[in-house]
Amino acid sequence: MNQQIADSLAVALKQQIIGEDILSLLEKPKSLELGDVAFPCFTLAKVWKKSPQSIAAHIASQLNHDSIERVQAVGGYVNIFLDQQKVTQQVLRKILHDKQLYGTTPTKMGTVVLDFSSPNIAKPFSMGHLRSTVIGNALANIAEKNGYQAIRINHLGDWGTQFGKLIVAYQLWGDKEAISASPIEELLKIYVKFHEEAEQDPTLNEQARAAFKALEDGNEEAQALWQWFRDVSFVEFQTIYELLGIHFDAFIGEAFYNDKMPSVVTELKEKGLLVESEGAYVVEMEEMPPCLITKTDGATLYATRDLAAALYRQQHYQPQKMFYVVGNEQSLHFKQLFQVIEKMGYPWAKNLQHVSFGMMLKDGKKMSTRKGKVVLLADVLAEAIATAQRNMEQKNPSLPNKEQVAKQVGVGAVIFNDLKSHRLNDIEFSIEQMMNFEGETGPYVQYTYARICSILDKKKAPTQDMLFKSLGEQAWPIILLLEQFPKTVAMAFEQADPSQIAKYALQLARLFNKYYAQYKILAEDEQQASRLALCQSVAIVLKESLALLGIESPENM
Ligand code: ARG
Repeated sequence: MNQQIADSLAVALKQQIIGEDILSLLEKPKSLELGDVAFPCFTLAKVWKKSPQSIAAHIASQLNHDSIERVQAVGGYVNIFLDQQKVTQQVLRKILHDKQLYGTTPTKMGTVVLDFSSPNIAKPFSMGHLRSTVIGNALANIAEKNGYQAIRINHLGDWGTQFGKLIVAYQLWGDKEAISASPIEELLKIYVKFHEEAEQDPTLNEQARAAFKALEDGNEEAQALWQWFRDVSFVEFQTIYELLGIHFDAFIGEAFYNDKMPSVVTELKEKGLLVESEGAYVVEMEEMPPCLITKTDGATLYATRDLAAALYRQQHYQPQKMFYVVGNEQSLHFKQLFQVIEKMGYPWAKNLQHVSFGMMLKDGKKMSTRKGKVVLLADVLAEAIATAQRNMEQKNPSLPNKEQVAKQVGVGAVIFNDLKSHRLNDIEFSIEQMMNFEGETGPYVQYTYARICSILDKKKAPTQDMLFKSLGEQAWPIILLLEQFPKTVAMAFEQADPSQIAKYALQLARLFNKYYAQYKILAEDEQQASRLALCQSVAIVLKESLALLGIESPENM
């Protein structure tokens, strides 16, 4: 709509300013009484050395578009009132016709690689990994909606010196059965014990180094243990992904790049970027500490593997964009990584983006440990689901598929809580709050959707070819918001910001509930069909918004 208005404004201005520039100037008036769209004339006034009032008056007299009802020039603004009848007709028709494809870009835009989740083998799936998983998956969905093919990559932390420690710890204190039963918990236990014991007995560290060296050199026993740690951890991670309903196109861990690093190191050398520093090799950086490439003993590092991974992905997928969805604390790492790639002369360095995020807090504190014990994500999800189940027993005890719905609501609450604020903010984690049916929560949006489904169960919405009537003052903001959905989808991708979709869904749910409180949707009058069409459209867009966030929409709850 704004695009069309911008084009008409350009015509009214005899193309002296292009539609694109006008589009970026268009505003939403403070209240709908002032109009639906406003065009401020102050920028033009400066350039043209005329008063904004006279420019506004001139435009107001010239502006002409089918969907515009009237135009007013007020204090240097052109205030535009849309033809509610026509716009209502257009918007509802489009949504009923496109259904869940409303807002989808049909053109093929290329590929986007998303590196997200990426937990570490034999370590618990932390709250930070949850954030990465949820944000990354939403971003992948949003990329797809915008016409891109999304490649979801899990860059598992399955390599590094900690595996030497783990091997030694296992050989000393490992209990095969206990580990098989509860892999990550048990592996973590012996890993922690290793650190405690190593304080008394430093030779343990020597042994660990030797064990890691053996692993790197392909020693069979070390390899087998590593593979086993990886396999059992993987199974545990998979249960979490299943619960969250998230899949990956590739689980390519750091270890995958072991045989790809020598050529990267050679390339750095050939390009004159590698500098020796006390036996180690680094790439010097501008305005930050050097990036360590190999240690004194020749071993590679996290950054080296990321470098190999980036080159590999570029070669393999030639993506338009590569997103790394990783917490704030790794900012320096990614800045260094991107700068190394730039220094290597690769123009695609500009396509790399660190999509960083803040911490998960509980009662204002970092949520990594609880009395020294790690907060397990699986426990948290189980608690959310149990809470949803209890709520359901109270609110809707006769619901047939309570268990499934409880899962959808519990998991949806956790995801929504994460995505509703901008990712850079730290977020509070309170099960009680995120489950509140009346708060700014996933269950609130889901509940609104279910409520509409039950209305439409009683009476089906019409098809798109009828003439929709405008529905009055309370419905108009809903129509305007529905019209904004495609733009919101585009912005969420451009700014790598799923919270725009979450906020949009909340607002749509809020507006709809307000409308619902005032109007009898099913009243048998001549506007009934249009009201039902509005309900159906809101349901489609709410469901699609939640789907973009990775949340399911039960029809009954
Ligand atoms: N495994 C890492 C961690 O848990 C995250 C990896 C992120 N991705 C990457 N390409 N570095 O901290």
